[in-house]
Amino acid sequence: MSKETIKIFDTTLRDGEQSPGASMNTEEKIQIASQLEKLGVDIIEAGFAAASPGDFDAIEKIAQKVQTSTVCSLARAIDRDIKAAGEAIKQAKLKRIHTFIATSPIHMQYKLKMSPSEVIKRAVDAVKYAKEFVDDVEFSCEDAGRSDIAFLKEISDAVIEAGATTINLPDTVGFRMPHEIAHMVKELSTYTKDRAIISVHNHNDLGLAVANSIAAIENGARQVECTINGLGERAGNASLEEIVMALKVRGDIFGNFTTNINTKEIYPTSRLIASITGIEPQPNKAIVGKNAFAHESGIHQDGVLKHKETYEIMKPEDIGLNTDDTLVLGKHSGRAAFKDKLAKLGFELDDEALNATFERFKILADKKKDIYDDDIRALVTNEMTSAPKIYELVSLQLMDCSNGVPSAAVTIKKDDNEIIDASIGEGTIDAIFKTIDRISNLKGELRDYKVKSVSEGKDALASVTVKVSFNKEEPAIIGHGLNIDTMVASARAYIGALNSYLSMQGKLRTTHTSH
Ligand code: KIV
Ligand code: ZN
Repeated sequence: MSKETIKIFDTTLRDGEQSPGASMNTEEKIQIASQLEKLGVDIIEAGFAAASPGDFDAIEKIAQKVQTSTVCSLARAIDRDIKAAGEAIKQAKLKRIHTFIATSPIHMQYKLKMSPSEVIKRAVDAVKYAKEFVDDVEFSCEDAGRSDIAFLKEISDAVIEAGATTINLPDTVGFRMPHEIAHMVKELSTYTKDRAIISVHNHNDLGLAVANSIAAIENGARQVECTINGLGERAGNASLEEIVMALKVRGDIFGNFTTNINTKEIYPTSRLIASITGIEPQPNKAIVGKNAFAHESGIHQDGVLKHKETYEIMKPEDIGLNTDDTLVLGKHSGRAAFKDKLAKLGFELDDEALNATFERFKILADKKKDIYDDDIRALVTNEMTSAPKIYELVSLQLMDCSNGVPSAAVTIKKDDNEIIDASIGEGTIDAIFKTIDRISNLKGELRDYKVKSVSEGKDALASVTVKVSFNKEEPAIIGHGLNIDTMVASARAYIGALNSYLSMQGKLRTTHTSH
């Protein structure tokens, strides 16, 4: 019997980006989209085009780059959003517009202040307008979990008639139990039959998003919306890796279903997202947590040594976690070993990026004895996702004594000229950022600052993420910096945000003048 394929719709770049503190810059989004394509995701929700010029720009670039996955943009059921979505994905090989409006009584009455028939009319108009841009239109009944099933059927009839090919039923507030999702999906999938694909989008407020997605698949859903590491609004979305591995590991129950996911890319994808967003999965997180394959108890260790399956239901290699490869690099490691390690970690770099990353590896290896896989992942990701280097840090000199005034002298390169300036501040980091502001003639407002250590040991790399607002009217910009010295990493992160801001301004100016 041929298997039924469950479409995997990844919304890490859209709903996942709504996780507090998870914003990403354009280069990072492009890198993530390429990795999602490699993972075998069917649909990549690349963002919400109408949300900001930055979102539009990222979706457009992803649409130009991705070849085998469908690229999708979210749009409210209003013309302006749908037009922006249609234009942003125009160049994609495979494209979809995902439009939505709320259908639950509470949302219609209090949020939309619209009657059910007005909501149906708006939904139909939105789908018809979206069809002017693409064939593949998904319609979501926001808060379907708390909507009346009879109304869900009525609006589904109307939007399918208007051209929608996928009907998504989000449990927007993560309220439902698996048997309730099962009932809703069964009702809708038997009602719509093969007129549309039924999809689910479960939030994790009660920790049931994955269980609800599996219940939906068992009852007729043929698309699940999910995110890597379960990122997403509030408690997050259903985790892609948990759904996919549940279907695979329990082939005895779900043998009729398959996905297009290459599970060996799960771990590299999870690490990439963690390193870009700075949000680590909890250590005991299923599938990708640091401890997911660690056996601590003596009894368990004994069992695993005698026969792995005594305590392991899946192999780490199945998700691309190579526990046998313990090679740690250091200052004597040559280019070949470095290249080999990159290949094992799943990175394919062109010569220019390889040379730049190897150079940074050598500088790091001079200061840090052992270089772990996570250090290398951080180096590569940092190299591949940084904005064009308009400003580049040359050196940093700090004066900070507990009783004195913290000051920073910063040397920065721009267009082959070195600019030196200095400033005092309320703390060392404040002094560094103020000096960079003096050099760039822009006044950044620091909205968020996060530092984490990338790997182990006193000489661990510091990874700093900043969120800076250079213009009150526009969204704050993310910057990342990496160095053994936290202050240097902080300066790099701030300059990274500055470069992203300036390159975005430059692009916007070019787009406006070329129209
Ligand atoms: O949770 C939700 O309802 C959503 C929709 C926009 C699909 O994210
Ligand atoms: Zn959502």
